[in-house]
Parts: sequence; C-alpha cells; structure tokens
Amino acid sequence: MSDDRPLSQAWEAVAGDWAAWARRPGHDSYWRFHRQPFFQLLPAPGRLTLDIGCGEGRVARDLKSLGHNVVAVDVSPTMVRLAKAADPSMQVIVADAAHLPFDDGFADLAVAFMSLHDMDDLSAAVGETSRVLGPGGVLCAAIVHPINSAGQFASLDEGAPFVVEGSYLASHRYQETVERGDLRMTFTSHHRPLQEYFAALESAGLSVEALREPTVDESSVIERADRARWLRLPLFLDLRARKR
Ligand SMILES: C[S@@+](CC[C@H](N)C(=O)[O-])C[C@H]1O[C@@H](n2cnc3c(N)ncnc32)[C@H](O)[C@@H]1O
Repeated sequence: MSDDRPLSQAWEAVAGDWAAWARRPGHDSYWRFHRQPFFQLLPAPGRLTLDIGCGEGRVARDLKSLGHNVVAVDVSPTMVRLAKAADPSMQVIVADAAHLPFDDGFADLAVAFMSLHDMDDLSAAVGETSRVLGPGGVLCAAIVHPINSAGQFASLDEGAPFVVEGSYLASHRYQETVERGDLRMTFTSHHRPLQEYFAALESAGLSVEALREPTVDESSVIERADRARWLRLPLFLDLRARKR
C-alpha cells in the first residue's frame, strides 16, 4: 500500500491505536524480550536523559523509574498528550527530532527507542541529537534491523527462506498492518541500509561502542510456534554511540 504522507502525519493518525498496542502488558516485543537487552546498553542515570520519539511514553516512564531525569519529545501532538496524561509530572514536548528546541549540551544521554526508522529525516535527527548532547554524551538507539525491513519470509514455517524482492541498498517507505488479538496497528516506516545509519552517526561525530541484534526469545516461540523463523534472523538492531 502506498502512503505518501510524511511519517510524522502517519504516526499522528495512529496514535490512539499505538497507545492501545504499546500499553497492553506482554503484547509486543518491548514487554516480551526487547526492553531488557536495550536497557542493559544504557549508562547509569546522569544529568538529563532525552527520550526522542517517545510515543505514548512507556520508555520514558521506565527510564524515570530507574532514576533518570527525563525530558521526552515526539512530533505527534496526540502521542504527547497521551504521554503527559499517563504521567503529568513528566516533561513531554511536541518537537520534530530534526529541529530540537534545546541548547547545545542540554542532555548527557539521548534514547531513541524504535523511532529513528519512523522519522522522515534521519541525518537531521541524528545531527540534532548529537548537537544537544554534550561532549562524551551518549545516544542509545533501537531500530528495526535493516535486514528485517529489506524483505520478508516466504511463509510462516520455521525454515522458510527469507526473500529480498527489491533492493537492500535502496531506501524505501513501507507499511504493514498487524492484527493481534483484538488490536490492530498500522506501522509506517522507512527502510534504510545499515550504511545510511552509520553515515548519519559518522557525520554527527558519534562513534558506536556497542551493538546488539535482538530477536525473539525462546518463551515467545513456545507461546507461538510461527515465531520460530525469527530465531534465525535479527528483528532489531540496538546500539550505543558516544559523541567524540
Ligand atoms: C514506534 S513509535 C515508538 C514510541 C516509543 N519510543 C516506544 O517504543 O514505545 C515511533 C514514534 O516516533 C515518532 N516520530 C516519528 N517521526 C518523528 C520525528 N521526526 N520527531 C520526533 N518523533 C517522531 C512517532 O510519532 C512515534 O510516536
């Protein structure tokens, strides 16, 4: 399905669906197997942690409960309203990651959990993130792994071939509607090859110091056998990068 709207508008349109999806305990990969390895990548709480692309705010709330002093931003006004309603004491701001309304060195940690692939201008978002980090500041990001967004399995079988019909190397928009239980969610994102992420980090002066490739865990597969094919490929790519 083609959808030419900016990604920011596509996400604003599904903010309510996203909140229902993201808030149901155990429903998605965050709760089942992604939160724990991602949080292990984070440095200890410091001066200020910026959550970029916070959505309805679950990551920001978890960061706060771990002792981080959090400011959260999202381009979608509805997402920001939802995040503020869930924790009125949290500072949550409507802002485009490509134009952050903060001074240089505002934060010492930036978290972009599952949001960079949902942004229209990756290099501007990473450049702005670097600007608002002080020297030695850290960006921890999780994205849909570029191998995942490049293609799909030919079937739900455990040994199904993974097929790339187009080009891994060509950036492109993609959209997927997932129904699980009584919830339905349309994800609109941008596939970019790994080198595009690394080019953005490189020109922003950010050096990767840790990288993980999380995928489903065994208990997710026991719960639903058709997830077994994902034991062979990474679903996500998580990294920690430091400003030089
Ligand atoms: C998949 S959601 C992730 C939300 C949250 N990090 C989580 O994992 O629960 C992606 C979010 O990125 C936001 N987003 C997209 N483009 C953005 C931009 N240019 N600046 C800031 N946020 C953006 C969307 O509005 C959406 O809330």
